[in-house]
Amino acid sequence: MATKKQPWYMNAFFYQVHVRAYCDSNADGIGDLLGLVSKLDYIKALGVDCVWIMPIYPSPLNDDGYDIADYYDVHPDYGVIEDFQHLVQAAHERGLKVIADLVLNHTSDQHPWFQAARSDPNSKYHDYYVWSDTNDKYSDARIIFLDTEESNWTYDEEAGQYYWHRFYSSQPDLNYDNPEVREEMLNVMKFWLDLGIDGFRADAVPYLIEREGTNCENLPETHEILKSIRAYLDANYQDKILLAEANQWPKDVRPYFGDGDEFHMGFHFPVMPRIYMAIKQGDATPIRWIMAQTPDIPEGTQWCTFLRNHDELTLEMVTEEERQWMWEQYAPVPRMRQNLGIRRRLAPLLDNDPRKILLANALLYSLPGAPIIYYGDEIGMGDNIWLPDRNGVRTPMQWNAGLNAGFSEAPPEMLYEPIITEGKFSYKIVNVAAEENDPESLLTKMKHLIRVRHENPILAMGAYEFLAPEVNAVLAIHRSLDSEDLVCILNLTEQPQKLDLDLSRWNGAKVIDLLTEDPFPGITGEPYAIALKPWTFHWLKLSSEA
Ligand code: NOJ
Ligand code: CA
Repeated sequence: MATKKQPWYMNAFFYQVHVRAYCDSNADGIGDLLGLVSKLDYIKALGVDCVWIMPIYPSPLNDDGYDIADYYDVHPDYGVIEDFQHLVQAAHERGLKVIADLVLNHTSDQHPWFQAARSDPNSKYHDYYVWSDTNDKYSDARIIFLDTEESNWTYDEEAGQYYWHRFYSSQPDLNYDNPEVREEMLNVMKFWLDLGIDGFRADAVPYLIEREGTNCENLPETHEILKSIRAYLDANYQDKILLAEANQWPKDVRPYFGDGDEFHMGFHFPVMPRIYMAIKQGDATPIRWIMAQTPDIPEGTQWCTFLRNHDELTLEMVTEEERQWMWEQYAPVPRMRQNLGIRRRLAPLLDNDPRKILLANALLYSLPGAPIIYYGDEIGMGDNIWLPDRNGVRTPMQWNAGLNAGFSEAPPEMLYEPIITEGKFSYKIVNVAAEENDPESLLTKMKHLIRVRHENPILAMGAYEFLAPEVNAVLAIHRSLDSEDLVCILNLTEQPQKLDLDLSRWNGAKVIDLLTEDPFPGITGEPYAIALKPWTFHWLKLSSEA
């Protein structure tokens, strides 16, 4: 049976770039759009399909750009609109797509709308935000930035009223009950779509609407607005995507796919901490559990999966007990903890052990979804937990062992943030140039893993079924698509493991490991015996053809 032609994002890799951190083209110490353009060949060679750039808009940068002061321009640190057009064009020439953040929920308090809103209650912009004479409305809404915010309301002296904000008090929430606000956001989308962008990672979508007596998340009215955004996109553009950032349980993310008429993609948040749990406990149970909680999604929609991103490793989607355990195991130093999460990168979390880093990636890629790789994790970059906010995981990309790790030609004291220079994560050791031509490096092995995953859409889109559920040290997953069958087997422990799998339903099939291309013994009616070294994995393709 021929596989139905699927939209590109169904079997894709995404690469998340913080423009500020990636490459500085004009020696001012700050990464910029032209710097990113100069690295597109590297990104292409990694084997990914789409670059997600974090906010590049004018902003006071209280939340690193998620506090937007002008939706229609580029922050001067990053360049000008023409540089953005150049980026899109250069990416497209290489067959890469570009998506960017669409920050719907809030603006910066420096945005002219908010400035007008606070200074004149009769201005039409007053109603662009959510105001109250008291600070006790919507008291069932949780506080997200627990380390810094005491309330979702802040009193504004100028307006003489409180305004609503789900994030920093410098990020007032927009009022989506106001049709003009909804109209404004369609205009913002139009502007960037007309410049050629391939879609948006829509930030903080659960919080658009607030209603008394609810937790103000995932409300039906919010979904209606998001559906109208999708309808606008479909009516005016082709092949553009919307990716939902909703840090929620899978059953609560499910409605963001609608009937295929809301988001094309949604992040799968809760699988992420469970990969770290499974690897630390040497136990597949958390993975099987969260996948059992994951509903089917409509045809033509896809999960976006990840191990790390630019925020703290969030522990919102775990129990209180699991959170304490994760903190004990992965954030033993108090400074490593932030809000409800952990301010560390992938490689330090996994003891800088390439076996564990590859295993974590392979586990992610063994599950359905389109994975995102956070810049620098492909080379095993470290973090700097002593930097403020989440900046410790946003340090300059380490390109080589030269000046400023090849990130910038500015004097080191001018860099927006210091390079990692200490210990085993020093740029002298961990950098692209050192890894690029080394067949044994993490980067080389990541590229290989990405390539094989990509060549086998069954891994992104196939059905899955857990095999040998009585075994915990090894995760075995049967993947199937059309007439293809694959068995992923991952040793989650630091001990060698032996396993007898019942593969008798494929009696007579030949077996080949997609990763090494090595043949494995053929399947007979007998139990299929597999031996695994510590933290290793196989993707076994079963084929009945001679
Ligand atoms: C989610 C983003 O990932 C995070 O970095 C940001 O602080 C909040 N949304 C607010 O925009
Ligand atoms: Ca620069």
